[in-house]
Formats: sequence, C-alpha cells, structure tokens
Amino acid sequence: MAEKEEYEKVKDTGHNWDGITELDNPPPRWWLNALYLSGLLVLVYFILYPSLPLVNDSTKGLLGWTQIREYKQDFAAIEQRRAPYEEKFAQMSITEVLEDPEMLNYIRASSKVLYGDNCAACHGIGGQPPQAGTYPVLADDDWLYGGTIDDIMMSIANGRIGQMPAHDGALTEQEVTDLTQFVIDSANSLPNEAGRILYDQYGCAMCHGDDAKGDKYAGSADLTDKIWRFSDTEEQIRRTILHGVNDGFDPQTRLAVMPQWSEKMAIKLEIKADVINAGEKVEEINWKDELNGNESERLSESDIKKLAIYVHQLGGGE
Ligand code: HEC
Ligand code: HEC
Repeated sequence: MAEKEEYEKVKDTGHNWDGITELDNPPPRWWLNALYLSGLLVLVYFILYPSLPLVNDSTKGLLGWTQIREYKQDFAAIEQRRAPYEEKFAQMSITEVLEDPEMLNYIRASSKVLYGDNCAACHGIGGQPPQAGTYPVLADDDWLYGGTIDDIMMSIANGRIGQMPAHDGALTEQEVTDLTQFVIDSANSLPNEAGRILYDQYGCAMCHGDDAKGDKYAGSADLTDKIWRFSDTEEQIRRTILHGVNDGFDPQTRLAVMPQWSEKMAIKLEIKADVINAGEKVEEINWKDELNGNESERLSESDIKKLAIYVHQLGGGE
C-alpha cells in the first residue's frame, strides 16, 4: 500500500486508461545531462569536422580532416616502416635474401599481396590453378621454363609464349593415334617403336628432346613425367598434337600466354647472363648504352625479384 500512496503525491497528467494513470514525473537528472551533453558534442563535431552538405561541396570543419588525407597519412606511415627493409632488399643478392630469415619473412608477406593482385587470377591462390590444365601449377617442382630464381625472374619479366606447331593435315589418322600412344607410353616409361619413329620423323624431338624430357628454352613440356601441362586424356593429347599451342594459323590451337611484366628487366637479365657467360664483369655494363628508356614496366624490378622468391618457395624451386 505504501507504494500506492507515494504515487498519489506525484502530479499526474490527467490521462487515465482503464484505471492506469499517466504520471508527470520529471526525467532523471543523469538522463537529462546526457541529453544536453550529446547535443553539445554534435555542435563540437559540427565545428571541427566536415558536416553540412552544400550544393557542390560541404563545410570543411576547423581540423581540415578528410578521409582520403587520413588514408594517405596511414599509408605514408606504413611506407616509412617498410622503407628500411626495401632499401636493404634492393642491395641484397637473392642468395643473401634466402639466408636471411627476417628479410625472407618480410618478402613472403609483401610478395603474397603482389601475387594476389597480379598473378592469382591465372595461377590460382598459392600457385594452384582452380582448373587443371588451364595455367601451369607454380606449386610443384615441374617447370616448363626452369625453376631457378633466375629462370623464374625471366618468366615473369619477359612473359612466356610456348610455341608448338599444329600438325593437322600433316599427319594421317593412324600417325596421330600412334603419336598419341607414344606420348602416353612415354609417360609410363614404356617403349613404343612405331611412335618413336614418327616422333623423330616429324621433328617432335627438336623441341621435346631426344629423351622426350622437354627443353626449358622452348618451354616444351616433359612428356616422360606424369605431370601434364594440359591433360592426360587421349582426346586432349590428340588435340595438342593436331592443333598445337599458340599456333596463330590454327583457330583450334591452345592459347597459353604468360604476359610480360617488365620489358626493361627482361633486357637487363639477358644482357647480364650474356656478360657472365662471356666471363666479363656485370659492374662494367653501361646500362645507358643498353637501354633506350622506353622499355615498358608493369611491375618494378624489386617486385619481380620478390615474386620470383615467392614462387620459388611455393613449391620446389630448383
Ligand atoms: C593472364 C594469365 C596469367 C597471368 C596474370 C600470369 N601468368 Fe604466369 N603464366 C601464364 C601462362 C599461360 C603460362 C604458361 C605459358 C606457356 O605455357 O608457355 C605462365 C607461366 C608462368 C611461369 C613459368 C612456369 C614454368 O613452369 O616454367 C611462371 C614462373 C609464372 N607464369 C609466374 C607468374 C607470376 C609471378 C605472375 C604474376 C606477376 C603471373 N605468372 C601472371 C599465365 C599468366
Ligand atoms: C617447335 C617446338 C615443338 C614441336 C616441334 C613440338 N612441340 Fe609439343 N610442345 C611444345 C611446347 C612449347 C609445349 C608446351 C606448350 C606450353 O605449355 O605453352 C608442347 C606441349 C606438348 C604436349 C602437351 C604435354 C602436356 O604435358 O600436356 C604434347 C602431348 C606434345 N607437345 C606433343 C608433341 C608431339 C607428339 C610433337 C611432334 C608431332 C610435338 N609435340 C612437337 C613445343 C613443340
């Protein structure tokens, strides 16, 4: 009953529904204070930050804050943290990088992003294309063009376009069948005399080698392993033999193009290799004479170096 008496002391609004009376209590102090404070905060925010939309723009706010400026500042801070690593990396040889766990860690992290942005669309996450036979797997130790860091750098810098001529029209039906069988038998290490003769006769050995193990300069697949660039089915092997790879004259040819990422670096790598082969010094190359400055560069040299290390570590680099 005591409670009821207390209610009665309070003013009511005169509203009454089915015996329920609406009282006229003032709101609690803390609640009112919070309300006033939040109004004040809106005002402060309004003055400091961009707030009121105008016709073409908005009020700027005293702090001059913008989202893009904040992004640029954060980005600059990250760049600053990376700078010492980047400078050190630029001076290091690949061998030194591979022996420096801290640097290797840094390169792994930053090249993963580069790989995701530029390479994963074709080669898949972690070097494993989602559909077999479309793009080469980078996560195994089977390489068309060689698996040393230098080979991989060259693959990325210059791009790769494997060339195998179409043989449609040049071979009889039986010869295609025999050659297909020869390829299947080679993968299973079985001798196949009839196929072997055709293999030599039609110049397959020129690119795939006498031992059919492929040649990294031509990027021709090893036919004796069970790792297939395209497919292990009889039908698909026939297709490769009949229509070739990147044969511009055959509309059914297989297309296999690795884009070029830095013409400039490709030229430099080639010149360096020549100079080293000739027993001369790399430091003595006069790059101004060798490059005309118009070479295309979609990725920087340092990015390609990072990616080569990343790809090399993915599977079995040589
Ligand atoms: C448009 C698709 C595409 C993109 C993007 C691409 N590649 Fe390739 N890459 C290919 C194809 C196709 C081949 C095989 C070429 C051939 O069969 O002759 C290849 C070959 C390679 C090879 C040689 C593999 C071997 O077995 O020797 C390497 C290494 C490689 N790519 C790395 C990369 C890296 C790193 C990137 C990112 C910078 C990249 N690729 C981006 C399509 C692509
Ligand atoms: C001018 C060089 C050249 C000649 C000649 C050539 N090939 Fe090829 N062949 C290639 C290249 C390069 C590739 C790999 C293409 C790529 O991945 O870009 C290839 C791929 C293949 C493949 C696919 C292998 C796989 O793993 O999927 C088969 C099969 C094949 N060749 C069989 C033959 C046969 C049989 C002949 C002879 C009739 C022949 N090739 C002649 C260059 C050649």
